[in-house]
Amino acid sequence: MTMLNVRHVSKSYRLGRVPVPAVRNVGFSLPDASFSVLAGPSGSGKTSLLNLIGCLDRPDSGSIEIAGTDVGKLAEKALTDFRRQHLGFVFQNFNLLAALTVAENIAYPLQLGKQGRAARRERVAFLLEAVGLAGKEGRRPQELSGGERQRVAIARALAARPRLVLADEPTASLDRATGAQIIALMRKLQREQGVSFLFASHDSALIDSADTVLHLRDGTLQAAGETLRDERVVA
Ligand SMILES: Nc1ncnc2c1ncn2[C@@H]1O[C@H](COP(=O)(O)OP(=O)(O)OP(=O)(O)O)[C@@H](O)[C@H]1O
Ligand SMILES: [Mg+2]
Repeated sequence: MTMLNVRHVSKSYRLGRVPVPAVRNVGFSLPDASFSVLAGPSGSGKTSLLNLIGCLDRPDSGSIEIAGTDVGKLAEKALTDFRRQHLGFVFQNFNLLAALTVAENIAYPLQLGKQGRAARRERVAFLLEAVGLAGKEGRRPQELSGGERQRVAIARALAARPRLVLADEPTASLDRATGAQIIALMRKLQREQGVSFLFASHDSALIDSADTVLHLRDGTLQAAGETLRDERVVA
């Protein structure tokens, strides 16, 4: 089944009166449980495209369908709910809440849901185990290594059982060995839980491990080794 379908998506930012095109007529689709990366040089539009797919920003034109829902047709409130239910986010700098413990950070997205306390606690315990942090649930982010913080961020992204986790440069602030562990962890979660990951990254280790690599250049998607095309469909 198709989990993500991006069609003819364009986005320009405005600097004063001057439009700065960041994403130009991008189209692709990804199946369920995919492990894919948006690659390309700095400024090629990776973060812009990820933010559009993550419903953090709206395209100027084109459509984005996630798990069968055309998110462009949702009003603000419905879009916020959709994002909470279906999407998870991992940021380069982890974005953990410093005042909260590991367990509280992981549980944070669940507080907005309808689950009772026991179910939330069970989910957190499962995730702590899944990311290899059992026993560290009472620590605060500043008492963890970078790799451990990223594990917490991944557990938090998965807490509400999203279909799709979007991760912008998830290995950029980690050393090579820790980055490799984090990639292996995300791959394991993708396989075992059927959740899709879509990354934006320059990291060759992450790019090499992906099932699908979407190359961006100047906001345009390029088919590997081919001339520019305005649409690329990945079955
Ligand atoms: N808020 C903004 N306002 C104006 N222009 C922006 C804004 N954000 C990004 N841009 C421009 O849009 C283009 C794409 O930027 P984007 O951040 O998506 O690139 P990227 O591929 O993620 O780069 P990097 O690898 O450096 O993170 C760039 O030309 C950038 O200067
Ligand atoms: Mg970026």
